[in-house]
Amino acid sequence: MITLKNICKNYDKELVLKNINLNIKKGSFTALIGESGSGKTTLLSILSTLLKPNSGEIIFENVNYNKIKNIDKFRQKNIGFVFQFHYLINYLSVKENILLANEKASLAEINNLLSLLDISKLINSYPNEISGGQRQRVAIARALINNPRVVFADEPTGNLDSKNSLNVFNIFKKLSKEGVTIIVATHDKSLAKLADNIVEVKDGQL
Ligand SMILES: Nc1ncnc2c1ncn2[C@@H]1O[C@H](COP(=O)(O)OP(=O)(O)OP(=O)(O)O)[C@@H](O)[C@H]1O
Ligand SMILES: [Mg+2]
Repeated sequence: MITLKNICKNYDKELVLKNINLNIKKGSFTALIGESGSGKTTLLSILSTLLKPNSGEIIFENVNYNKIKNIDKFRQKNIGFVFQFHYLINYLSVKENILLANEKASLAEINNLLSLLDISKLINSYPNEISGGQRQRVAIARALINNPRVVFADEPTGNLDSKNSLNVFNIFKKLSKEGVTIIVATHDKSLAKLADNIVEVKDGQL
């Protein structure tokens, strides 16, 4: 589904990714591991169109990223993001936070997602009234409301306890079984084992 060919990325003089080749299959669940500073966020950002490599090609289902004319539309249609910090807006309810990502979402669609994530009762709650694990699940709901084909998550469990972390990974597992492609960067090797593939970034290579 996504293929990286000879990707190189440097910041100033520091070469972070050296000739990376990677093939991500549709519906697969990939965990990206590696030491702090190894380049996981950089690689995720390149995969998710947020950052351009210095050289190399990225091909998303036969479409080269360089040839995409409307990148905002492409992202909205295909890609969901989940970050370590949930970035929910405290002044908006759970429902309103999700609607920010897709104003056309119906109440039924929102309810479906919230029940998949086991937080249906929180639809009218505000982020500062719910737990960290629940907030992260709302952030996942927000990422999913556009029915993305691929979900990228960067340390989504960095602020969660082990029970909530496991919960988040199990949700990703479930989504991948439904055909959503999942790519998650994590420090946690035991969580990474729940993925179908583990890719380690080390010395700029995989
Ligand atoms: N915008 C930037 N400008 C300059 N250097 C950067 C920038 N972003 C990252 N780097 C450097 O690139 C390297 C890889 O960073 P990256 O954030 O991809 O690592 P990471 O594996 O995600 O680390 P962590 O596990 O701590 O999140 C690091 O040495 C970092 O200092
Ligand atoms: Mg990182």
